[in-house]
Amino acid sequence: MAQALYRKYRPKRLEDVLGQDMNMEILKNAAKAGRIGHAYIFYGARGTGKTTTARLIAKLLNCEKRRNDPAFAALGEPCNECRECLAVDAQNSMDVIEIDAASNRGIDEIRNLKESIRTAPATGAYKVYIIDEAHMLTGAAFNALLKTLEEPPAHAVIVMATTEFEKLPPTITSRAQRFTFRKQPKAVIMAKLEAIAKEEGIAIEPAALELIAAIGEGSFRDAESLLEQVSSFGTPGSRSSKARTVTLADAERITGRTGLRKVHAFAELLIAKDLKGALAYLAEISDEGHNLVQFTKDLIHYLRKTLSLSVNPSLEESFEKDLTRDELAAMKALAAMKGADSATLVLLIKALIRAYAEMRYSPFAAVPLEVMLVEQLS
Ligand SMILES: Nc1ncnc2c1ncn2[C@@H]1O[C@H](COP(=O)(O)OP(=O)(O)OP(=O)(O)O)[C@@H](O)[C@H]1O
Ligand SMILES: [Mg+2]
Ligand SMILES: [Zn+2]
Repeated sequence: MAQALYRKYRPKRLEDVLGQDMNMEILKNAAKAGRIGHAYIFYGARGTGKTTTARLIAKLLNCEKRRNDPAFAALGEPCNECRECLAVDAQNSMDVIEIDAASNRGIDEIRNLKESIRTAPATGAYKVYIIDEAHMLTGAAFNALLKTLEEPPAHAVIVMATTEFEKLPPTITSRAQRFTFRKQPKAVIMAKLEAIAKEEGIAIEPAALELIAAIGEGSFRDAESLLEQVSSFGTPGSRSSKARTVTLADAERITGRTGLRKVHAFAELLIAKDLKGALAYLAEISDEGHNLVQFTKDLIHYLRKTLSLSVNPSLEESFEKDLTRDELAAMKALAAMKGADSATLVLLIKALIRAYAEMRYSPFAAVPLEVMLVEQLS
């Protein structure tokens, strides 16, 4: 099978890691000066570059060109051509040890680490331990790790990656440099998706790319994986042998985003107090096989956002992360509808939450929702 897009487009230089400028600058300066630290904590949302950067550190430390050519080393980037760099990319470097703390909570892994970290690197200059999901380690594993962090061998570097910084003991965090990896705005993710689509010859509408970036909610990986899924419609060689442009409608269908349109349409009926229309729409959704419990949950979130937006229009900026421009415009129009005053929205949301609680355990999921409609709209 062809290499997954998100792997193929994993940044190969600090400069290519997008949106984490401050972190990259600090690391680059350290690399230029040959002063990479012994312990790092990379903290932040999924798919924002933690593992990528950890592997870049491994390359920076072991790159043969950097080791042999001081002028090149002073540039602060790996060569991506030598055996060591290629081994990191292929994930078969003997000196880069990736540990998944989530499996078995790292007990055996940290024990192995304690033993193996003392022995010299196999081919590189450094041994780099990348501990993923570091917050999952047990207390015993943390203790063992602490001993190592207190006196790390000169040839060892430990990078801990985590999405939950608060779960790491202070004894560990105080001995490592901490870098925060931020969720990225839609525009940054979209720009990368555009570049990938161009390079791969994927014909896709900008609106479809925007939707994919929005669904990624700040994660490059999620967005890139979705692009891959959606792109099978647009690349030659797919079942439909003749390439065609992936449209917004295609992307909505493939990603299940059509749901949001339905939620919006239903919210309009609620605010317009159109009981007949709402009941009919509900029946339609149910017939189409949608899960009404999930639908109600999505609706609550949607109205909650609409309420926030009408109370504080400057929230628009933060909603842009996971909504496309058109989706946001629709939500704003909803907030501006006659009948969408805060008091009404609050009543609707409260009633929906009650209905949702009942629906979850009811053998007749539709009933609490229908009763709620009748109560609120008539
Ligand atoms: N800052 C970034 N700039 C460009 N691409 C990125 C960035 N972050 C992630 N990616 C893309 O997403 C993929 C996954 O990134 P990575 O493995 O570094 O995420 P992560 O932060 O370790 O996530 P997780 O917490 O899920 O392990 C990369 O291969 C790359 O294609
Ligand atoms: Mg990772
Ligand atoms: Zn190299």
